[in-house]
Amino acid sequence: MIVAIDGPAASGKSTSAKLLAKELGFLYLDTGAMYRCVSWAVIKDEIDLSNDRQLLNFLKIFKIDLKNTGNRSSFYVNNKDVTDLIRKSNISQRVSEVSAIPDIRDFMVDIQRNYAKSKNCVMDGRDIGTVVFPKAEVKFFIIASDEVRAKRRKLELESLGEKKSLSELIDEIRRRDDFDSNRGHSPLKKAFDAIEIDTTDLSIDEQVKLMLGIVKQKIIGNKK
Ligand code: CDP
Repeated sequence: MIVAIDGPAASGKSTSAKLLAKELGFLYLDTGAMYRCVSWAVIKDEIDLSNDRQLLNFLKIFKIDLKNTGNRSSFYVNNKDVTDLIRKSNISQRVSEVSAIPDIRDFMVDIQRNYAKSKNCVMDGRDIGTVVFPKAEVKFFIIASDEVRAKRRKLELESLGEKKSLSELIDEIRRRDDFDSNRGHSPLKKAFDAIEIDTTDLSIDEQVKLMLGIVKQKIIGNKK
């Protein structure tokens, strides 16, 4: 079974996806983190995204690994642990541009489909229910107000030692949503059959409980 979770930036997708996967005993894949990993490497290697040959050579040697230990998912790029580095704002500022490149998306989508091959999986991102797994058994589209999303991002950045004002973060989030929703390849949009959940006024516990109930109902329905 695939549970697809999409939605705009910092809407609570990853937090709920991770806990939901744990409750269900499913694998979890944060595809946003994958695009952040490739963005980190593009910045480090100073790749010119308009140079096709340079980009293809870069992708040939680009290796991404995921290690799940306890509650933490760690991401490695060419054997370097980049888990904390990819959450920083220099990455958030470039990731939409990098993830709009078709060759990069094709590369990532292959990995994502392979990861979930014949396994139960919760996957979150922007195009999981629309492009990666259009036949996913359960699809959620998670939203929250701009202010609440910026507050969540602010707390996350503070835990990494970075300070940003709320208004700066609101601007950054809106800019990224706008770019993600208007790109030509796999834009962020709600699948017609996705269940929308507004997490503005929900605690993490409440949102996970709500989602878990919906998935369990589906599992029971499948058994009948
Ligand atoms: O954590 P947050 O919701 O802010 O973002 P993320 O899930 O880490 O995703 C970072 C960026 O990667 C997004 O803004 C998209 O540009 C891109 N992304 C994508 O294009 N497709 C996905 N399936 C997941 C992320």
